[in-house]
Amino acid sequence: MKRVLITGGAGFIGSNYAHYVLGEHPHYEAVILDKLTYAGNMDNLKDLSDNPRYRFIKGDICDPEVVNEAMSGCNYVVNFAAETHVDRSIVDPGSFITTDVYGTHVLLEAARRFGVERFLQVSTDEVYGSVLEGFSNEQDSLHPSSPYSASKAGGELMARAYHTTYGLPVVITRGSNTYGPYQYPEKLIPLFVTNALDEVPLPVYGDGLNRRDWIYVLDHCAGIDFVLHNGEAGEIYNVGGGNEHTNMEITRLILELLEKSSDLITYVKDRPGHDRRYALDCGKLQALGWSPAHSFQNAMAETVKWYLDNRWWWEKIKSGEYARYYEQMYGGR
Ligand code: NAD
Ligand code: TYD
Repeated sequence: MKRVLITGGAGFIGSNYAHYVLGEHPHYEAVILDKLTYAGNMDNLKDLSDNPRYRFIKGDICDPEVVNEAMSGCNYVVNFAAETHVDRSIVDPGSFITTDVYGTHVLLEAARRFGVERFLQVSTDEVYGSVLEGFSNEQDSLHPSSPYSASKAGGELMARAYHTTYGLPVVITRGSNTYGPYQYPEKLIPLFVTNALDEVPLPVYGDGLNRRDWIYVLDHCAGIDFVLHNGEAGEIYNVGGGNEHTNMEITRLILELLEKSSDLITYVKDRPGHDRRYALDCGKLQALGWSPAHSFQNAMAETVKWYLDNRWWWEKIKSGEYARYYEQMYGGR
């Protein structure tokens, strides 16, 4: 048996990863540590509750006591726990610094004391900042634009420092924009799919021509798991989907898949500091033997269908505290 600590495992990618690990590795146990912020959701882990190889601990990665309890006996740590939404980071940067930088440090300290075999820090392509041309590779310098991406850059730099200074076997992944089931409906794709299903306007920022590289969540999980097992300690790996699209292309695809009117498209005031384009060079991970398996068209159709079939999951979220968030973000826009 190997035991993996999955922090932030009640969130979007972390919960998909917990399912992936338990399915893919029959001899692994998964311990999930999650604070259950607004983005953490036990519904995402519902079907694991009877699995004897799964354990859930509610707690904050900034709290050394609960981190020690969760990490005890673990071979691997995969740190997904973070504040993750750029727009929220513009309103409240402090909580991002606390969790994404300080929380990562608390985990690294514990990992050093326990002597874990691997610590994987889940980072993002946003640390490179906007790239108008070409593709970011792992040697490029970091130019984060938002409090979110600056905090993520801080977290991964701390992880690297623990490798360089203490020899902790750290690996870092920089993933691109991710989509799929169980994504909190504040991010572009689940927000627009669920708004379209409710016939509510789709708020496109600025001219809608900002570009992102999109990866399906199961590909992102598989890429992370591949790096956990095959990456070289101290190294960074870009994990991209190779699907670059403007926000307008994504918006039109969603409306097409749901057979909804383009009258729902509403241009709103742009996000401050909005990065124009992210694009990853994934040659390093390809050379190691991994590339994504899902086609963008099929995975988007699957994703849209999942939100169509699982109204129970997102209607619960949208009926609570969310209404206040939506008014704050979009009310005056
Ligand atoms: P998410 O917001 O859906 O989930 C984050 C989870 O972390 C939640 O369950 C939340 O409760 C938990 N959490 C937050 N603060 C915590 C704390 N202090 N202690 C313990 N748990 C805490 O995020 P996501 O989209 O699943 O992203 C997961 C990771 O992947 C993040 O590190 C993010 O930066 C990175 N990432 C995300 C994307 C993307 O497109 N979603 C792309 C690249 C990288
Ligand atoms: P988002 O899902 O927030 O991811 P990120 O900002 O981390 O890339 O946004 C993806 C793109 O969609 C980004 O260019 C901002 C844009 N966007 C909108 O146009 N309207 C919205 O309501 C949201 C949430 C995002």
